[in-house]
Amino acid sequence: SERTLVLVKPDGVARGLVGEVIARIERKGLKLAALELRTADRATAEQHYAEHDGKPFYGDLVDFITGGPLVALVVEGVRAIPAFRQLAGGTDPVEKATPGTIRGDFGTEVQYNLVHGSDSAESAEREIKIWFPNL
Ligand code: GTP
Ligand code: MG
Repeated sequence: SERTLVLVKPDGVARGLVGEVIARIERKGLKLAALELRTADRATAEQHYAEHDGKPFYGDLVDFITGGPLVALVVEGVRAIPAFRQLAGGTDPVEKATPGTIRGDFGTEVQYNLVHGSDSAESAEREIKIWFPNL
């Protein structure tokens, strides 16, 4: 069993898709280990997306992620990291994510792609510490 850090990004919260995302996580057989609604400050967002610092979309990405409430979750289960990436679909909701995935079903724009999921065990450990330091 392993843990992954999931975000329902501000666009997903604004559109009322929190329940939809959680329902898909639960139906996949994964468990919620932590859940919090919060508005991220800049330092948290910059830490979370540090790997993208310097890319042309980085400023917009940090503005977007800090621009409204999001839901942060720790999701646990067998193969939880790749399993949630599978549920999310590819980064671009039209070009990469297929129907049946969260991004493929609900998104059209790469920045507003609704959810985040850790991409490796190392990322998951790093990101869980950022969002849930007491876990
Ligand atoms: P995350 O789970 O959010 O990390 O998405 P990902 O792992 O599928 O993609 P990646 O880590 O490469 O990019 C992080 C986030 O930056 C994406 O989810 C998008 O919201 C945003 N992003 C990535 N590429 C672009 C881009 O070309 N333009 C814009 N505007 N945003 C981008
Ligand atoms: Mg990523």
